[in-house]
Amino acid sequence: MSISVQDEKHLRAALELAREGIALCSPNPAVGAVITDKDGNIGGTGSHRYEGRKHAEVLAIEQAGSRAKGGTLYLNLEPCSHTGRTGPCTSAVFDAGIKRVVAAMPDPNPAVGGRGFEQLRGAGVVVEVADGELRAEARRLNESFAKFIQHRTPLVTLKAGMTLDGKIAPPPGEQDSPTALGIAGASMGWITSEEARAHVQTLRHESDAILVGVGTIVADDPLLTDRTELPRRRPLLRIIVDSRLRLPLESRVVKTAKDDVIVFCGFAEESHKRELESRGVRVEQLPLYPASWALAAGGRPVKSSDSRPDMRSLAKRLGEMEITSLLVEGGAMINWAALSSEIVDKVFLYYSPKILAGTGAVPSATGEGFRRMNEAAHVKNLTLHRFGEDFAVEGYLKDPYEARLQVVPAPESRTGQIYEGV
Ligand SMILES: NC(=O)c1ccc[n+]([C@@H]2O[C@H](COP(=O)([O-])OP(=O)(O)OC[C@H]3O[C@@H](n4cnc5c(N)ncnc54)[C@H](OP(=O)(O)O)[C@@H]3O)[C@@H](O)[C@H]2O)c1
Ligand SMILES: [Zn+2]
Repeated sequence: MSISVQDEKHLRAALELAREGIALCSPNPAVGAVITDKDGNIGGTGSHRYEGRKHAEVLAIEQAGSRAKGGTLYLNLEPCSHTGRTGPCTSAVFDAGIKRVVAAMPDPNPAVGGRGFEQLRGAGVVVEVADGELRAEARRLNESFAKFIQHRTPLVTLKAGMTLDGKIAPPPGEQDSPTALGIAGASMGWITSEEARAHVQTLRHESDAILVGVGTIVADDPLLTDRTELPRRRPLLRIIVDSRLRLPLESRVVKTAKDDVIVFCGFAEESHKRELESRGVRVEQLPLYPASWALAAGGRPVKSSDSRPDMRSLAKRLGEMEITSLLVEGGAMINWAALSSEIVDKVFLYYSPKILAGTGAVPSATGEGFRRMNEAAHVKNLTLHRFGEDFAVEGYLKDPYEARLQVVPAPESRTGQIYEGV
């Protein structure tokens, strides 16, 4: 692979154009394209938007016109080789007479997966693929697409704001009833700094959906909106998991709902469900955990009142809704439900240099917890961030690019075989 300093500059520009598609391209990948003419001058650029349909390379080719002939195409992602909502971009590249393609990474879509590069090479186009820092940045940009396109479930990020000793809130205050709304964070005093909280807004902006447990609604009455004021194609889907539909009608999420709030429950009392729906809140029932699991495994039936919406079914349902990224924002019980069901791909944990101590303060995750050190969730590939006096740890529990492992029963054996990337 030989890419020059000039190539790197144009590839970086393509990556920046791709970033302009954040929140506008989902469920498609973020793609940016730059075309230089045969003298190395920029002839055209493009950035993909889902609504605009046209892929970034096609937009750049259209803008470049005859200047594309004999030129180079820079892209953060391999051009598509299949017909989806549009024709394959590889054909548009040959037709334009482009001689060289420099891309930052292959397409994780199993329908493309290297075939775009192969087709280009087969047609005599020189193809170069970057490595190192540029490739790492390109992979980071489209990690939710990579997860979604291979697994059909969203990339799940667990976010929490904590004290140095891992507490996400001071001891809960006295509440009159389990559905009485508590005091919002601002008046209680925030754990993290303004800088850290501003960064959480960018995480929300990059996400298709946000999720909390009904306990957090009751305790903090949060709005759960994307307040970056940057454009987005679909409103941030606000999700509340609430087994028995105790979501207060006077909560701020309900009061501001405009078809962008969905409650996943186990049981829905008809009149409360209708009340919520009349306020623009969607209500959906999900299979219950552990009841449905125990039954499926042939185990003793579990009382359904001990059960709660199953988080894996939830992730699957969000995939059906073309939600490619989900930010789980707590609280303590939901954090454990997400971790123990193994739906979490990555964490973004913000730490403020404060210590709450005590047994009454709310820990980052409650529930049973992992019982042994070798069972603990192991966060890998860490990046540290600074936000004022706070810091954050970003890291992965799973590699979003890892191909799906599927158990397919072998014809003459009952043990089944594992096939990669089916
Ligand atoms: N610092 C932070 O980043 C942060 C973020 C969020 C919250 N918090 C704090 O966390 C505290 C609230 O935590 P919490 O644990 O009480 O509330 P929570 O985790 O937000 O909600 C827990 C409730 O969710 C419902 N639920 C529905 N499906 C569930 C499932 N599959 N698994 C588990 N629960 C499910 C349960 O109520 P039902 O049985 O009625 O369904 C459960 O009581 C507050 O003090 C808040 O300030 C801090
Ligand atoms: Zn394409």
